[in-house]
Amino acid sequence: MIRIRRIQMSDPLYAQEVDLRTRVLLAPIGMTIEDYYRHAEGAEERCEHFVAVFDHPTGDRVVGTATMLPPAEPDGLAKVSQVCVDPQRQNEGIGQKLMAAIEARAFGELGLAGLYCHAQLVAVPFYERIGWSIASDVFIEAGIKHRKMVVYAPVMGDPVDPELEFELD
Ligand SMILES: CC(C)(COP(=O)(O)OP(=O)(O)OC[C@H]1O[C@@H](n2cnc3c(N)ncnc32)[C@H](O)[C@@H]1OP(=O)(O)O)[C@@H](O)C(=O)NCCC(=O)NCCS
Repeated sequence: MIRIRRIQMSDPLYAQEVDLRTRVLLAPIGMTIEDYYRHAEGAEERCEHFVAVFDHPTGDRVVGTATMLPPAEPDGLAKVSQVCVDPQRQNEGIGQKLMAAIEARAFGELGLAGLYCHAQLVAVPFYERIGWSIASDVFIEAGIKHRKMVVYAPVMGDPVDPELEFELD
């Protein structure tokens, strides 16, 4: 079974998080985690780190991860970055579970106004599928085409799905 956990950088699972990010996101564009730390300028320590883990006889295995950088301003948006799932475990719903946990943390616990990310073009349909919206034209970051994607906190009283609305007698 897959569980989503929020971990500190001191957690033994952080090494697995870094290994997964390196394999899936950084190495393909010729970056190391040290390059990323320099590029992100101190953000790593300020981020919340989420990992998708499954039980294994030899201990927890990290098969997905994402980070969330809380906003500098109280009404600002938090930035979600480094979203990735082990290539052997993609399309099993793990990415969706990770993002649901981040949204629950951001909106349910921290009371944030919204989240944004810079999504690689190949991942845009994933974010749209989980309810995020395109918020920019295509731009280049780290040599790759991206779009900004956003999702806002649900407003109390908003119908989740208009189809589910019903009339009272
Ligand atoms: C993008 C990524 C994080 C998605 O995680 P995942 O666990 O494979 O996605 P899920 O299985 O939770 O998919 C949820 C839904 O999105 C859809 N989806 C996922 N990736 C998709 C894609 N690239 N294109 C279209 N739809 C996609 C799934 O089909 C699923 O829809 P369904 O519920 O109708 O079946 C993962 O594929 C990944 O790590 N990709 C490589 C790294 C990457 O591109 N990261 C994003 C950087 S911005």
